[in-house]
Amino acid sequence: MIGTLNLCPRSLLSLVSVPLLLLLLLAPCAQGNTEIINFMATLAESPDIVLPWTQLNITNREASLNITPVLNSTEVWPQSGIWLTLDLDDPNWSSYNKFTLRASWPASHPCDIYIRTFDPQHVASQLLRNRPLHPTRRKYAHIHVINTGIPTPSSIGEDMTWLRREPVPVTLILEPLLLGVVPQSVVPVITLLSGAVAMMIMIMPTAVGYYNTITIPFKQGLLRRKQE
Ligand SMILES: *[C@@H]1O[C@H](CO)[C@@H](O)[C@H](O)[C@H]1NC(C)=O
Ligand SMILES: *[C@@H]1O[C@H](CO)[C@@H](O)[C@H](O)[C@H]1NC(C)=O
Ligand SMILES: *[C@@H]1O[C@H](CO)[C@@H](O)[C@H](O)[C@H]1NC(C)=O
Repeated sequence: MIGTLNLCPRSLLSLVSVPLLLLLLLAPCAQGNTEIINFMATLAESPDIVLPWTQLNITNREASLNITPVLNSTEVWPQSGIWLTLDLDDPNWSSYNKFTLRASWPASHPCDIYIRTFDPQHVASQLLRNRPLHPTRRKYAHIHVINTGIPTPSSIGEDMTWLRREPVPVTLILEPLLLGVVPQSVVPVITLLSGAVAMMIMIMPTAVGYYNTITIPFKQGLLRRKQE
């Protein structure tokens, strides 16, 4: 048939998934450079200790920190970079099993950022002895920065290494992942997009029908002319 839109399930699916995929791909790019780590909120036994590190939790999901970069991976120690406490124990977060920690930094700082999460046992193993233990979903994250800039020799032969050790302003965001994949902050946009797509799908048969009624006379005319 000429002029009818073939709306098979596969084309419907691509209609929905393409904008979603684009969105998921573009969302992190909008903020310069981004490094993301997704992790499971597993339960572990830990003493009730408070480490002197920046804490991210349900009310404090974001932190901006200046991290001093190292120049290559041989310089990476537990002491280089920074440590975060990720408090996932809020009852409102109990239904989420997967979380994402995202680091973003300005493109003007050429560097790679590495994130690793750790269970309390790993971080506080020496503190586990002779303490009452409590089940917790708390995790710790180690973030370090490696400068990837090309050393620029100064005209007077001065050592410019210090320039590559300038702290990098890094924004860190902790978020639960819906269904284990979608960051919570992206949900409103997806809802909006899905609404738009649903409306398109609802309108389409009407539009196609309308298109057919207005084009039928032309098609018939064409056919008649072909037969002549
Ligand atoms: C969240 O962390 C901040 C510090 O970053 C702390 O002041 C606040 O009490 C914490 N909130 C909860 C609910 O633990
Ligand atoms: C790593 O950096 C250190 C100190 O800046 C330097 O001495 C060493 O040669 C570097 N190693 C490599 C493989 O670049
Ligand atoms: C947790 O949920 C309750 C009820 O839905 C709400 O009143 C409260 O503000 C939430 N707390 C946080 C930190 O989001």
